[in-house]
Amino acid sequence: MEQVPPYYHNYLQLDNILNSQLPISFENGNEPAHDEMLFIIIHQAYELWFKQILFEIDSITAIFSKETINDNTEDAGIILQRIKRINSILQLLNQQVHILDTMTPLDFLSFRNLLVPASGFQSVQFRMIEARLGLKMQQRHRAEYYKRTNEGGFTMTDYSSINEVEATPSLAELLNRWLERMPFLNLDLWKHYQLVSLSSASFTAHPFWNDYRHLYTDGLNEHERNKLNDFDFVLFNQNNGHFTEEQCKALRLQFTAPALQSALFIILYRNYPLFQTSFQIIDALIETDHLLSTWRHEHLTMVRRMIGMRVGTGNTSGAGYLEGAAQQHFIFKDLAGLSTFLIVRKKLPALPDAVLQHLTYG
Ligand code: HEM
Repeated sequence: MEQVPPYYHNYLQLDNILNSQLPISFENGNEPAHDEMLFIIIHQAYELWFKQILFEIDSITAIFSKETINDNTEDAGIILQRIKRINSILQLLNQQVHILDTMTPLDFLSFRNLLVPASGFQSVQFRMIEARLGLKMQQRHRAEYYKRTNEGGFTMTDYSSINEVEATPSLAELLNRWLERMPFLNLDLWKHYQLVSLSSASFTAHPFWNDYRHLYTDGLNEHERNKLNDFDFVLFNQNNGHFTEEQCKALRLQFTAPALQSALFIILYRNYPLFQTSFQIIDALIETDHLLSTWRHEHLTMVRRMIGMRVGTGNTSGAGYLEGAAQQHFIFKDLAGLSTFLIVRKKLPALPDAVLQHLTYG
């Protein structure tokens, strides 16, 4: 059979896409509200980009799910490239929200009541992005909102597909597993390590971390002394009665102490060729969190201007809910928090030959 050559309009399914803007205010019996078209198109544009983000996240988690991924295979490079793509899309989405500044609160009010109880809260793709990256239900602000299947909540079908996604390993969990498996902190490689610090007091069985802890302590000023307790808990699970359960959760959200040791080590020795991609992956994910947080703040500011302190169409407390989510919904906060535990570059201990052999190509 002869193949029909692709035609722009058909290839892009523009009949489907361009016939999918159906403002309710344009229906018979209603007063047409000019700005409802913009309101629909901006949401649809967001949803298309959400689809692309999910497509990238799924491909990244598929690579991370492999038994081993190595820094000098193309896997790590592909992961990095795709996280960077997600970040570029998020940058665009953060700009896009400003188009709504051309709609005044009065313009919005002319069709707002027609939308009730639909709301961006019900964006299944947004929930999936959060869950696939690693936002946990128990960490969510007003978690009870997410269990609603009545007005303003999800349909039963959407609710169960979100639950399904939440039960599969997230990018944060897979990254944690990858970091935990990094071989360079294996004690066998550290037999000939030369201690830098003079103190012989030992804190862990690992000579590098004993040394590093001394160097870190020496670098703290008198107002920062208590950061050593954070160091001991975040990187070594040692609490010694310093922190309540609540404080522990705030100090370390969802990464494990061994994974954070690896991440800190990578950040410290990022200039070694084999660490460069891993470092950039960590850095890019911190940026993903930052960009999502920027979106939450941009959206919140726009919502405050648009509806003041009214409840949302999705029947949450509106700006109050969005503010709580903006403060709480971080995914890679543990990685960003590692900056607390850095020491000045010139004090970094030299690495033993056995470790160096692992860190150079050849
Ligand atoms: C006039 C413009 C907008 C207003 C007044 C508005 C208002 C709100 C409000 C009040 C909420 C809280 C849930 C509720 O009770 O409804 C919400 C949530 C949300 N909105 Fe918007 N929104 C607007 C535009 C957008 C756009 C363009 C998007 C793009 C997709 C969007 C996506 C979302 C998402 C994803 C949530 C859930 C946020 C979370 O749970 O952290 N909104 N919106």
